[in-house]
Amino acid sequence: MKILGIETSCDETSAAVVENGVKVLSLTTLSSLKKQIKWGGIVPEVAAREQVEAIIPVIELSLSQANLKIEDIDGIAVTNGPGLLGSLLVGVESAKTIAMVNNLPIMGVDHMKGHTYASFLETERPPVFPFVALLVSGGHTQIVSCRKHDDIKIIGETRDDSIGEAFDKVARLIGLPYPGGPEISKLAKTVTKTNLKLSRPMLNSGDFDFSFSGIKTEVARIVEEGNFSKAEIAYEFEEAVTDVVVKKLKKASDKYKISNIVTGGGVAANEKLREKVKSVFSNVYETEPKYCTDNGAMIAAYAYFNWKPVNYLDIKADPSLNLEYENV
Ligand code: KG4
Ligand code: ZN
Repeated sequence: MKILGIETSCDETSAAVVENGVKVLSLTTLSSLKKQIKWGGIVPEVAAREQVEAIIPVIELSLSQANLKIEDIDGIAVTNGPGLLGSLLVGVESAKTIAMVNNLPIMGVDHMKGHTYASFLETERPPVFPFVALLVSGGHTQIVSCRKHDDIKIIGETRDDSIGEAFDKVARLIGLPYPGGPEISKLAKTVTKTNLKLSRPMLNSGDFDFSFSGIKTEVARIVEEGNFSKAEIAYEFEEAVTDVVVKKLKKASDKYKISNIVTGGGVAANEKLREKVKSVFSNVYETEPKYCTDNGAMIAAYAYFNWKPVNYLDIKADPSLNLEYENV
């Protein structure tokens, strides 16, 4: 079964054709990020306007790269939330139109379910149920459980900033460009220790939630005091946030007695985080780096394994779409 997956929840316009949920026949992603760097982040209005222009060419390119025509496609999957309303609307309404005109079955997919299923793409070692997934990116920070298909629940999530935002904001405070995650990592590698000790927010809060907004205020104060080098700040910041995330992941895995771990989202590319996760858990299923960032292939993957087409009129862009919660 070949599914056309469409993802436009944030600043990316992405389309992919995925066969049987795992084989990526094509993936085309256009990001408006470069145009937005001057703003230091994403401007929703700018993103949506770019997406309106990009969506049809991106879908056409994705089909032609897979050497397919729309008649060869068996179904369409589109992100219907959560995300930016204007951006979501572009993908959702385009997908619905294509489905209607070509009489194709279609379903909406929750963006976070997509991130969870990105781990099934192009891997010789697909995740084994049940698993706990750590989903960390610029847009989100969640720990979710997945015991079987169609059963993803939130165990914990951030109460304010995402971990990616924290990387980006701290990078800005120490004069590094956006996006800050890879830059902080690079700078952190130039030192091996420091006397600087940042707090580990919510480490012992008793739940599985996170908070990353306080740590940037802490870093702002330290930058102002001027007692530590930028490299030391980068190093300790990376230590602090990865410590919190990995320790909470371990607590969640223990509480729910689920030892298989999946990682995904842009921040999952962070080497220190990957090392720490692998030192704590023995069954880790990492998402291929190229499927960690927002992409249409992960949406198609989820749709294949959870195929439930609906009337296209019933699919609506929902910026605040949310998964169910575990009983914590
Ligand atoms: O998944 P993603 O590409 O887009 C969103 O859905 O948000 O994630 C982007 C985020 C940015 O905040 C970026 O700084 C961060 O991922 N990031 C990293 C690394 N690579 C990207 N953070 C830490 N370490 C990295 N190596
Ligand atoms: Zn995302």
